[in-house]
Amino acid sequence: MLNLIVANWKMNGSLEGIKEFFEKLYLRDYAEVVVLPPAVYIRDCVSAIGNRALAVGIQNIWTEDAGAYTGEISAKMARDIGAYWALVGHSERRQLQKESDDLVKQKLECSLKAGMNVIVCVGETLEERLSGQAESVVSKQLKKVLAIDLTKTQNEVVIAYEPIWAIGSGESATLEEVQEMHAFIRNVLLVVLGTLGANVRILYGGSVTAENSANLIKQDHVNGLLVGGASLKADSFSSILNALD
Ligand code: PGA
Repeated sequence: MLNLIVANWKMNGSLEGIKEFFEKLYLRDYAEVVVLPPAVYIRDCVSAIGNRALAVGIQNIWTEDAGAYTGEISAKMARDIGAYWALVGHSERRQLQKESDDLVKQKLECSLKAGMNVIVCVGETLEERLSGQAESVVSKQLKKVLAIDLTKTQNEVVIAYEPIWAIGSGESATLEEVQEMHAFIRNVLLVVLGTLGANVRILYGGSVTAENSANLIKQDHVNGLLVGGASLKADSFSSILNALD
């Protein structure tokens, strides 16, 4: 499986910064790259990448194609302006916007219907990990969100395991923790999706840096990385890509 490396800029970036980022970004052919800028910059990113081999996506979408949903953006609209990927279920949205598994599932379905590939985020809180519930929490999220018929779509669904305690903390999960959870997720995917589950790429996210990326990517069932803070500058993001060789 080709590794998928995703840059999640969250609510960061500027027009000037985008130009510099894509000028300096050094791509490698052993990884597929997707950049998720704030929605207002999607078109600027699409023009800035030109014909280079990377794709642009959206960090969040609404569940309807159009209508009276002030401030929302539909998957169809995002696809219209060149976003080929959608991120759904990020823990920041689950926590700050109180997004439920049910809503995340609707967003997944809507994005697939619009013709986009989708990255579905799952992950436990520190309390849940400390009380031995990490696997049951992740399994519940996966089972609820993936309760759809994936045989009907041409598009790709990717899972991103992001332990909430590792996001933005400067401390990624240990290699053992990552290995264990990714093997567990693979099993859940096989149960829920049957043989299709074997081909779903599973990304790790949470304080990924150029220093830890090479070891993280070597773990079984780690098929890519979801990078927040270290994806904001072309230098650090290029170093992550470079370290994966
Ligand atoms: P981080 O964020 O790399 O800054 O920890 C990852 C994410 O939230 O996607």
